[in-house]
Amino acid sequence: MKPIRTIAITSGKGGVGKTNVATNLAVALRQLGENVLIFDGDLGLSNVDVLLGLVPKYNIQHVLTGQKRLKDVIVEGPQGIKVLSASSGIQEMTYLDEFQRLKVLEEFEDYQGEIDTLIIDTGPGISSNVTFFCITAQNIIVVISPEPTAVTDGYALIKVLFTKYQEKKFKILVNSANNASEALTVFRHLSETAEKFLQVSLDYLGFLPMDEAVQKAVRAQRSFLDAYPEAAASKSILSIAGRLQEDSLDSLKGSLQLILGNPIGEARDVRL
Ligand SMILES: Nc1ncnc2c1ncn2[C@@H]1O[C@H](COP(=O)(O)OP(=O)(O)OP(=O)(O)O)[C@@H](O)[C@H]1O
Ligand SMILES: [Mg+2]
Repeated sequence: MKPIRTIAITSGKGGVGKTNVATNLAVALRQLGENVLIFDGDLGLSNVDVLLGLVPKYNIQHVLTGQKRLKDVIVEGPQGIKVLSASSGIQEMTYLDEFQRLKVLEEFEDYQGEIDTLIIDTGPGISSNVTFFCITAQNIIVVISPEPTAVTDGYALIKVLFTKYQEKKFKILVNSANNASEALTVFRHLSETAEKFLQVSLDYLGFLPMDEAVQKAVRAQRSFLDAYPEAAASKSILSIAGRLQEDSLDSLKGSLQLILGNPIGEARDVRL
């Protein structure tokens, strides 16, 4: 069976646009013909459902407590993307123990065959949930913005993932840039620092412009690509999705793909 490609969207700093990138990337990949599931990994403060105007009855918490199976809590979002929501205001969900983590992976294993791509929208910060979702994913997209704090927090997250989990592959997306050259300058700054101090080389995935259509879509609780297909941000996210598809043949690393193909015991040894 074709393994699921997993993409974690993360940033270190809060509010830089992770959830917008995650939801719209899901819609973009769907437009390119993929079956996509977006999982709200901001487990205590769900936002994906809010941004997409969905009110799901059940969420990942019901799966973790054994009340529901994954397929029963997944709902349909714009253009046929699948959405797995988090709970909101449940503090216990902000730290998953090892058993719960394995349960999440097991449930996704059962879902193999239904989807091509799993996009995980992480919460801000460098909590253990965030690092867990990053290290289990095949691709890590770090969203930064031209603000210095977004760059330093992005670097801090990369540093943690590298020093603690030997993660070496990162794709950088610059959000809310004024133009392409500003985005590239911001990327180069981060990339030179990562190269110098961590010997980690970063890939430039592209940028999303600062675009009023994003804010309008957020207020309307719609995906900007769905609501404003002609907007500059929509064109950018589609080309980013195309680029991701091009390198989807990237070599497998010790990731959810491997975990899904392995007995859980091995997964524990490898990754957790
Ligand atoms: N490209 C953009 N152009 C204009 N506004 C943007 C853009 N990207 C994000 N925003 C604004 O930033 C806000 C925060 O975005 P979003 O919720 O996606 O960030 P986040 O990183 O997921 O936040 P959190 O860390 O709280 O999960 C959006 O509601 C929107 O108003
Ligand atoms: Mg978010």
